[in-house]
Amino acid sequence: DNSVKKSLPLFGKKVMVTAGPTYEAIDPVRFIGNHSSGKMGFALADELAKLGADVTLIAGPTAQKGSQTLKRIDVVSAQEMFEACTAAFEETVITVMCAAVADYRPKQVATQKIKKHDSGLFLELEKTTDILAYLGKAKKPQQILVGFALETNDEENYAKGKLEKKNLDLVVLNSLNDKGAGFKSDTNKITIFNKALERTVFEMKSKTDVAKDICTAILKIVK
Ligand code: CTP
Ligand code: CA
Repeated sequence: DNSVKKSLPLFGKKVMVTAGPTYEAIDPVRFIGNHSSGKMGFALADELAKLGADVTLIAGPTAQKGSQTLKRIDVVSAQEMFEACTAAFEETVITVMCAAVADYRPKQVATQKIKKHDSGLFLELEKTTDILAYLGKAKKPQQILVGFALETNDEENYAKGKLEKKNLDLVVLNSLNDKGAGFKSDTNKITIFNKALERTVFEMKSKTDVAKDICTAILKIVK
């Protein structure tokens, strides 16, 4: 009932979560994508909703179902995700950028299927907009911005660099070196850095429990 809901720590707060990969079209039948399953982002959206938040979930192409209480916006490309994020951002008090956004897209999208030839194929790629960096610049003091860092080497330094460069309040480091962590897996192992660069290392756990840990870290800095 409503009085129970009102006592929840994120009651009525507008929260935005992104999840899944983006697909960047090459031609009408092909794309550049990545292995993100969307599991982590959907688990986060669910946990934030359980804490009373009014969650908008912006999802790239994924097989995840997602619960009914979430406002879901489906997108395909990095550009579509950028537009959905910027449209929702101003109203949002907490943003968690969990999506594996493509860094590059084909500069030209062929209107017809590209036919194979005996020679190789060169695709010219251009950078997509870094959504998180853009939001970090647009952020007002009362807004909380959480990013992820997916790394294979020199993980902690890269993660801290992203926190500072993108003006984040928290960065969640996902190391692909940890067995059982990452894309398709149901488990994950994370390290969180806050703005003071204080580090919290977590054990390997289910993505649901990882989502709970991330929510706990967010609750500590909710204004
Ligand atoms: N991100 C984004 N828009 C992009 C690329 C990344 O919003 N075009 C976000 C991701 O959602 C994630 C964070 O930036 O929250 C870090 O993504 P990651 O791929 O780890 O880092 P990059 O900054 O893209 O740098 P690199 O891939 O070179 O490590
Ligand atoms: Ca990237």
